[in-house]
Amino acid sequence: MGARETPSLENGYEPRFEAMCGALDSVREHFLYSTEQERAAAHPPWSSAASAAEEAAHAPRAQNAGGGQRYKSAHFESPSAARSPMKRIPLPPVPNGWYKALYSDALEVGDVKPLSILDQEFVAYRGEDGQVRLMDGYCPHLGAHLAHGGKVKGNALICPFHNWTWDGSTGSCLDVPYSEQIPPRARTRTYPTREQNGYVMFWFHSEQAPPTFDIDVIPETADPSYRLYKRVDWQIRSHIQEVYENVVDVAHFRSLHQMDVQSVSWEPVGASDAPTVKLHINLVRESEEQSGADGGTEIESYMYGPGLQVTRLSGKMKGVSVNSLTPLGDEKLEVGHAYYVERSDPASEKEVESFWDYYMDDHALDFNIWNNKRYLENPVLAKGDGDVASFRRWFKQFYPASNATTAEHAAGPVKEHHRHE
Ligand code: FES
Ligand SMILES: [Fe+2]
Repeated sequence: MGARETPSLENGYEPRFEAMCGALDSVREHFLYSTEQERAAAHPPWSSAASAAEEAAHAPRAQNAGGGQRYKSAHFESPSAARSPMKRIPLPPVPNGWYKALYSDALEVGDVKPLSILDQEFVAYRGEDGQVRLMDGYCPHLGAHLAHGGKVKGNALICPFHNWTWDGSTGSCLDVPYSEQIPPRARTRTYPTREQNGYVMFWFHSEQAPPTFDIDVIPETADPSYRLYKRVDWQIRSHIQEVYENVVDVAHFRSLHQMDVQSVSWEPVGASDAPTVKLHINLVRESEEQSGADGGTEIESYMYGPGLQVTRLSGKMKGVSVNSLTPLGDEKLEVGHAYYVERSDPASEKEVESFWDYYMDDHALDFNIWNNKRYLENPVLAKGDGDVASFRRWFKQFYPASNATTAEHAAGPVKEHHRHE
């Protein structure tokens, strides 16, 4: 990071990141979910304890509009909505889709890890065949957490409590060591996994339907002419739909980020309800850090369902950011960010660093809004706002059918109010 303030819990969000200079092994421990979750449980950024710190952190904030000084410190206000009996974000907390379970390099053959995501406990392990398997965390026998002391045997997992053996692919029980009969009800829920783009992704569907779409391979994540520059994960108080909606919110690019947007296009890839969306933004900004020679930057982005977004930036800096969005619970979201840059001579390292710094500041501006805003089902929109209504209609497909009414309500009515002057 450069001279700018390092984001911290005190200014409203908690990032963790590491430089990735080819030495992933040395930093692997920083990305283990177990330790991070334990730490987060002790100091959750959305907790009331965190709010006390936030209240104390009312540092003066520079205006970021009108060419003033850029963001200095996230002014973290207590969300008034939190005091209201009405839910701040009345959306189903876990949309159906592919989600990041962990980074691929966080799980070696024979490793077992607990995951506290999607408001549930999971266990992930890598079998001797190299495949990662994901199951419900609690053993159906007497409820031990399979990740706390469980052992991999072949491609199965042995519970630490009474040593029942579970098949993480099918969910069936393979062995009860002290009984000749395996109870017919001895089954656990497993989740399809897919390892690509540096992640172990898993498919979650509220009604246990099989995957209905795929995520593309992102070539840059395995291209030797690119390198993983940094990874960072944040935990914020928000919801995936709110974070995604940001990209169709054309007006905020100027008001919040000081970007002069020339054009924005947003469309599902294929049918209007296709789960992948392509976004294209042309903008001009005055930052030296990112603008090309003509001051322009192009952003091309794909959203693969609710859990993964890939953004390619061109301009001064050519890079690809692979962003994961994983619900942790109600109004708790993990936003992960892996940034790949073209390999280049070491002289440009400073430029990459300065761009990253700038890019992180842009995120901090959004986090400050998302952590505190309320989701409005019926916002008052003006001409010049983005196509929020179409976006919400598209996103609705990921909500569980049992929440269809809520999602329908959440998706509209959105009215655009044109000002007549
Ligand atoms: S609780 Fe898992 S085997 Fe008994
Ligand atoms: Fe934004």
